[in-house]
Amino acid sequence: MRIDIITVVPDILKSPFEASILQRAIEKGLVEIHLHNLRDYTTDNYKQIDDYQFGGGAGMVMMIEPIDKCISELKSEREYNEVIYMTPDGATLNQKTANSLSLSENIIILCGHYKGVDQRVRDQFITKEISIGDYVLSGGELGAAVLCDSIIRLIPGVLGNETSALTDSFQDNLLAPPVYTRPSEYKGWEVPSILTSGNLPKIEEWRENQAYERTKKLRPDLLDDE
Ligand code: ADE
Repeated sequence: MRIDIITVVPDILKSPFEASILQRAIEKGLVEIHLHNLRDYTTDNYKQIDDYQFGGGAGMVMMIEPIDKCISELKSEREYNEVIYMTPDGATLNQKTANSLSLSENIIILCGHYKGVDQRVRDQFITKEISIGDYVLSGGELGAAVLCDSIIRLIPGVLGNETSALTDSFQDNLLAPPVYTRPSEYKGWEVPSILTSGNLPKIEEWRENQAYERTKKLRPDLLDDE
C-alpha cells in the first residue's frame, strides 16, 4: 500500500513512522509513506497556502491552487482508491472504516489547518472525510497518524502474529476480553483459574463471554450497532 499525506507541517508526521510497528511495516516494504509539504506546490515567493475567507470572519482558509497542484500531480502518476480529508466534521473513524481502507492500493490523505480548506477542494477532490473524534485538533496531522496506524497494522504481514489484529477490540463490535501474563499470582491477586487450566475450548468460551459482558457494561452502544 502507498499512502501520500499532504500537509503544511510534515515534521509532525515524521516520528510516528520512525518507531515500532509502523517503522517495521515500512522496512518490510508493506507500506510506503510519502509526505508532501503543501508549500512546495505554491508558485509565489511567500509560499502562501492560506488566505482570508470571502465574506469576512476570523481565521484563514487553505487555498485551492496548491492543493489542486499536489493532488493532480499524484493522480497523474497512479490511481488512488480514496482521497481523504481529515476534518472534525467528517465521519468518525471506526474499525469498519480502517478494515475497508486497509484493502486499498493507494490513498491520499489531506490534512486540514486553520479554518480548513476552500470548500471547492472538498467538492472536487475529496472522496472521504474522516474525523478521529468529536474534538478539534490544531490540524489534521495527528488524525492522519491515527488513521494510518489503524490501517497499516491490518495489512497482512505487518503484525508478527497474523491473528492478533482479528482479536482486537471492535473487530466484531466487541471489546477485547481481559488478558493476563506471569506471575499467575501477585500479592495475592490471582489470574482466573480457567486461563491456566489448559482447556482450550473452555478458555475460548470464557473469552467470548468476557468480551460480551465487558461490552455490555462499558460500551452497550456497540451491541446496538448490528
Ligand atoms: N482536524 C482537526 N480536528 C480533527 C479531528 N477531530 N479529526 C480529524 N481531523 C481533525
